[in-house]
Amino acid sequence: DWNSENVIETQVARIREQVGSARVISALSGGVDSAVSTALVHKAVGDQLTAVFVDHGLLRKGEREQVEKDYVASTGVRLITVDAADTFLGHLEGVTDPEQKRKIIGREFIRAFEKVQRELVAEAEAEGGEPVKFLVQGTLYPDVVESGGGTGTANIKSHHNVGGLPEDLDFELVEPLRTLFKDEVRAVGRELGIPEAIVSRQPFPGPGLGIRIIGEVTRERLEILREADAIARSELTAAGLDESIWQCPVVLLADVRSVGVQGDGRTYGHPIVLRPVSSEDAMTADWTRVPYEVLARISNRITNEVREVNRVVLDVTSKPPGTIEWE
Ligand code: XMP
Repeated sequence: DWNSENVIETQVARIREQVGSARVISALSGGVDSAVSTALVHKAVGDQLTAVFVDHGLLRKGEREQVEKDYVASTGVRLITVDAADTFLGHLEGVTDPEQKRKIIGREFIRAFEKVQRELVAEAEAEGGEPVKFLVQGTLYPDVVESGGGTGTANIKSHHNVGGLPEDLDFELVEPLRTLFKDEVRAVGRELGIPEAIVSRQPFPGPGLGIRIIGEVTRERLEILREADAIARSELTAAGLDESIWQCPVVLLADVRSVGVQGDGRTYGHPIVLRPVSSEDAMTADWTRVPYEVLARISNRITNEVREVNRVVLDVTSKPPGTIEWE
């Protein structure tokens, strides 16, 4: 019968058999699937594995630290962080179209990852060491079913894996989560000692805060959204709502300004949208009836603590017709 210890034992043996003494690369996104698949492979083959984390500058507050400190401390994974914020923001300059943003972010992600990968391949060759032959992929059972059960190539749902990996890589895939459902992946992650904040993380899109700024993405706007998002998340967590809320995008209407009043002055700031949703699988969703007092606390804190925001609004649209994200 199913338990996470059995799964770990079985997968570790299978990974060792598949990989042998070759080297392996993995891309960490900060999400559950890549964190657990990477930790499993590390448990199986240790430092034959190098994990790569691309910081595209569109992360939420504390996310990079969570991966670099907490995740590494708990797993011992050897990690390379790529500081790509300047590159990404440079390419996003002047871009407001959502699809365009996704394309750019997806393309730059692949470029950044491939650069590291080439370096690792070259390094292995120079050392005359084992070749880099494998790539870890956090494919889950529902993804396998959805894509017709194919194996050996990167099964990527194009829409939802911007920030995923290229499909034409010359690597064999290691997919230790292929038989598991999400809750099983979380159980395995806990058994492996991965921090709860990562194991129980709600969905977060690959393009990150880039698609939660309506308008051009700039450093300054990212800073505003990051602060507002951190406040909303911490209040929802404090209110014990993480389990009942599927995810709560926090969106900055960067090109909209609204008049406000603060102290004895008139302000001309930006609205922040809260989009708490309840869902089973993100295909459909309903807006979550978050208690008024929690909404009030979030609104008060954001407007008091984030100078550029003078209004907080609530999105009360189901999906369909509204998508979960605004872009
Ligand atoms: P929508 O907005 O289509 O979102 O209702 C459904 C779910 O998918 C997430 N999402 C993404 N995830 N890359 C991802 O990895 C993306 O480009 C992307 N776009 C949306 C969204 O957060 C929600 O959970």
